[in-house]
Amino acid sequence: MVLNVKKEFAVQAEALSLGYEDLGSVFWAVRDVHLEIEKGSSLCIVGESGSGKTTLGNAIAGLLPPYVRVAGKLVIEGVEVIKDSRVIGANKIRGRIVTKIPQNPATSLNPYVRIEQMFYDVLRDVRGIREKRIAREEISKLVSAVGLEEDVLYMYPHELSGGMSQRVTIALALASKPSIIVADEPTSNLDAYLKGHIVRLIRDLSDKFGISLVVITHDISITEVVCKDMVVMFLGEIVERGHVKDIIRAPLHPYSSELIEAVNLESASYKPKKYAGGCVYHARCPHASNECLKPPPLLKLSDGREVKCWRQAR
Ligand SMILES: Nc1ncnc2c1ncn2[C@@H]1O[C@H](COP(=O)(O)OP(=O)(O)OP(=O)(O)O)[C@@H](O)[C@H]1O
Ligand SMILES: [Mg+2]
Repeated sequence: MVLNVKKEFAVQAEALSLGYEDLGSVFWAVRDVHLEIEKGSSLCIVGESGSGKTTLGNAIAGLLPPYVRVAGKLVIEGVEVIKDSRVIGANKIRGRIVTKIPQNPATSLNPYVRIEQMFYDVLRDVRGIREKRIAREEISKLVSAVGLEEDVLYMYPHELSGGMSQRVTIALALASKPSIIVADEPTSNLDAYLKGHIVRLIRDLSDKFGISLVVITHDISITEVVCKDMVVMFLGEIVERGHVKDIIRAPLHPYSSELIEAVNLESASYKPKKYAGGCVYHARCPHASNECLKPPPLLKLSDGREVKCWRQAR
């Protein structure tokens, strides 16, 4: 399989599968993903708990654990990260080309290190800035870009509020001057008021610095604010892809409808544990027929939307 590496893409995935070994067998948490993200654009990955969002996001960020099993290809900013069923280039992109805004800043910031030192470390290790005066100027710009006062630099993580911690992690993610930021559930620990502020901040800073953005969320309400495009994942597969506005206005896959309308709550409580063949969603789908026991084809529509559903293929 030859993947044509193209300059205009921040992310190119071809037949990408990611699995974890479990008692001798492999549980494929992400299956057969084909994905291209243009440089400077923004993509939301949505889906319920366990659908493989974080596993895919970690692959893009070069953060897969050493025991992970891989298949297919992944190219990040022209760097081959996964090839021939091996992770070969994660070190080249992690924390340099791609940085990650974590889900839970309170537990991801080192509790024994002052915030200022965290910035000095990133600037020295990633960008080679050793002169304190130059680093200090850079830190002031980063802190002000995320709307924080400089006092925060002298604090330890436990002294910060939830909103302040998340702003610090955003500024730390920017400190490396990345080409791509992966934000994994960046608002899940925030109240509704702060949620809006933080997603707008991530969107505005990515636009300002021309950074490609991947936002992982199970909260469909933030997708329209932060991203242009969206993929919907269910049990490790991408079942629909398109512009956020198009999917929210007229979802093509029944699982996208379920997420958007939050209807069908009784059947939503049923979660298949493993892929049993056919359409990933058929065990839960209100429209399932015998046809759905076979894997649906990936339908590519003229407006760039993609969906895997027999109802659309008919
Ligand atoms: N390190 C790991 N070892 C073994 N299995 C894992 C590991 N990480 C994730 N999994 C499994 O892979 C599947 C996908 O998990 P993942 O964390 O990627 O989903 P998610 O969509 O991010 O879920 P959530 O919304 O709960 O964060 C789950 O079934 C999970 O149990
Ligand atoms: Mg997750």
